[in-house]
Amino acid sequence: MKHQTKNIAQIALMTAIIIVLGFIPPIPLGFIPVPIVLQNLGVMLAGAILGARKGTISVGLFLLMTLLGMPLLSGHSGGPASFFSPSSGYLYAWLVAPFLIGITLKHFNVKSFSMTFVIVWLFGVLLIDLTGAFWLAWYTHTELKATLIANLAFIPGDTIKALLTALISLRIKRQIA
Ligand code: BTN
Repeated sequence: MKHQTKNIAQIALMTAIIIVLGFIPPIPLGFIPVPIVLQNLGVMLAGAILGARKGTISVGLFLLMTLLGMPLLSGHSGGPASFFSPSSGYLYAWLVAPFLIGITLKHFNVKSFSMTFVIVWLFGVLLIDLTGAFWLAWYTHTELKATLIANLAFIPGDTIKALLTALISLRIKRQIA
C-alpha cells in the first residue's frame, strides 16, 4: 500500500513537472511549423528517472489530459486537434521514448553518465526528432529530406536536454539508492 502510494506520487510529480515545463514559452522557428520547447526534457526525465512503466504512465497521463482539452502544451495549446497537427508526430513519440529509455537503462544496468546520455539521446532525441520529421513530411506533403534537414535545428538544444537528463537522473538515483 505504502509502495503504491509512493508510485502514484512519483508519477503525479513527473506529470506536474512536464506541465510546468510547458509554462516556458515556445520559441518559434520561421522555417518549420514546430517550435523549440522544453517539455521534451520532461519526457526524457520521465524515462530516465521513473523507468519504463512509471515514466510511460506519467507521460501518458499528460497526453491524455491534453487530448481531453486541457491547454497543457507549450503555448497553451491542447485538445484533440493537437494530435493531428504538424507537431503531432513528436507527441506520439513522447509516449514511446520513456518506455525505451527506461527499459534499455534497466536491461543494461546502466550506471555511468556517458551510457545514460547515449541511451537518452538515442530515444529521447533521435527517435523523437525522426518521428516528428516523418510525420511532418507526411502531414504537410513536404519532401522528407526537407523536414529532416529542418529538424537538425532541434538537435543542439535537445542534446543539451539529454545531457541534463543524464546528470539529473543519475544524481537522483544515487541519492535514493
Ligand atoms: C507541441 O507543443 O505541439 C509539441 C511540440 C513538439 C516540439 C518538438 S519536441 C522535439 C523537438 N525539440 C524541440 O525543442 N521541439 C521539437
